[in-house]
Amino acid sequence: MAHHCYFNGKIDSVEQTNIHITDLGLLRGYGLFDYFRTYNGRPFQWDWYWERYERSARLLRLPNPVQKDEAYQVVMSLIEKSGLDDCAIRFVLTGGYAEDSVSMSKPNLLIISEDIHPVKPEEYTSGIKVIAYEYVRDLPEIKSTDYKHFMILQADIKAAQASDVLFHKNGYISELSRSNVFIFKGDTLITPDTDILKGITRRTTLELAKGHFKIEERSVKLTELLEADEVFTTSTTKRVLPITKVDDSVLGSGKIGPKTQFLLDLINEKIKNW
Ligand SMILES: Cc1ncc(COP(=O)(O)O)c(C=O)c1O
Repeated sequence: MAHHCYFNGKIDSVEQTNIHITDLGLLRGYGLFDYFRTYNGRPFQWDWYWERYERSARLLRLPNPVQKDEAYQVVMSLIEKSGLDDCAIRFVLTGGYAEDSVSMSKPNLLIISEDIHPVKPEEYTSGIKVIAYEYVRDLPEIKSTDYKHFMILQADIKAAQASDVLFHKNGYISELSRSNVFIFKGDTLITPDTDILKGITRRTTLELAKGHFKIEERSVKLTELLEADEVFTTSTTKRVLPITKVDDSVLGSGKIGPKTQFLLDLINEKIKNW
């Protein structure tokens, strides 16, 4: 559930926030977003999320209407207004209103506070099942609002009793619909470095893994993932979550592996002390 929304300079309840039908996000899919959460009431890795938001805006040629300090003040007001110990914050930046449905004048920025939708606790032990699907996101390094392939696949994911989809193309994997992917081969931690959104949790995980494992950021074949010792995915809401099945193939031991557990423990520790 969304609570409050900052829209072009003003905070209101979500019900009272209205956006006009000529918005280019709606008419042309011209928009981006970012999404982070708080731990202990403080935005987790705020600097990194802000950096990514600004980069997405630059690459989509959308002028960013707020400075970092001002945005932080808005975020802190939204957190306070939510009345929750922890909440999620979503930035949405669109091309703004265009009477001729093309010409951009001023972007629209929404900053929204939302409930967090956590992963089921048992999935941290059992792992999740994903379906494989041949596709690479358009402009993958930008956090654009285009998730239509994921939406189209909803029924297939449900029919397969899976939780998500693993994108691959020409034999190489990229990411899940809303999270990054890692594999362990012995003591080497490997993660794709192209055709992906560089997740903030991916970055945190790589930083935490340094000094414990050999790290390779490179192209990863789907066959390599299927034969890996351990596979896991990372995202803001999932943290470090094991993947134990791709379609009908069982991965590793079929449950969380010891090295994935080690990284999950490290990230949980970081969050506890955030
Ligand atoms: C396509 C895609 N890849 C990866 C991620 C993971 O990013 P983060 O760790 O910043 O949540 C997301 C998050 O929404 C995403 O949408």
